[in-house]
Amino acid sequence: MSVAKSEDKKVTTHTLQEMKKRGEKISMLTAYDYSTARILDDAGIDVILVGDSASNVMAGHETTLPITLDQMIYHASSVVRAVKRALVVVDLPFGSYQGNSKEALNSSIKIMKESGAHAVKLEGGLEIKDSIERILSAGVPVMGHLGLTPQSIYKFGTYVVRAKEKSEAERLIEDAHLLADVGCFAVVLEKIPASLAEQVSTEIKIPFIGIGAGAGVDGQVLVLHDMLGITHEFNPRFLRRYLNLYDDIKSATERYIQDVKSRDFPNEKEQY
Ligand code: KIV
Repeated sequence: MSVAKSEDKKVTTHTLQEMKKRGEKISMLTAYDYSTARILDDAGIDVILVGDSASNVMAGHETTLPITLDQMIYHASSVVRAVKRALVVVDLPFGSYQGNSKEALNSSIKIMKESGAHAVKLEGGLEIKDSIERILSAGVPVMGHLGLTPQSIYKFGTYVVRAKEKSEAERLIEDAHLLADVGCFAVVLEKIPASLAEQVSTEIKIPFIGIGAGAGVDGQVLVLHDMLGITHEFNPRFLRRYLNLYDDIKSATERYIQDVKSRDFPNEKEQY
């Protein structure tokens, strides 16, 4: 099956704004390596996020906090080498931008120079306004991220749905306006009530891309390993699994072991 690609031209931040204007939904997935990024790009994905979720799904950490700037650049440059059409956005890792706009600028420039990516993503609102403005002033496009922001997990203490209370919802709406006003080209909304996400997406002109934020937003993002069923223990309500690769890879590995042990592999045709 082949999916109609919105355009064969390279996706830019401008393309995403145009997609929102004409009501075309934006598709975004994470990728961290060359081979998978190639498949996603060939399938017609609009945006590839080199997420700091690499810390969880690639490196096996419990949180996104340990991943470093150099590790993000390693993942991002592998992805960039594979991509012909998609917009490649890279997460600024924890500790590389909070509370220090000069450091935020330096981290973003290092990512853009060394990986060849097209934009960076930062978690937070008002508290990182200075960092966002400084990055934008260097001509680096910025994607925001509000709602559940995994880099602040030790502040929240849990991964439950955010902004259910009125005061937190109001703060999120203010932050969403602020991110749009300072010049972010799009914002990820993670794990917030669908009605709130829809209100924000309707009220504000830039694209909002949801993960666990319902259908009223301008696009959707999932972590690739979750939607492919590699991380089979992770089962949030918002996740739709398109494959069950954990079981498929495990059973292929079991068959391979069996074939090696039984001397079935390699057979005569599989040798020189
Ligand atoms: O790091 C990541 O994969 C993300 C997505 C969950 C949006 O930020």
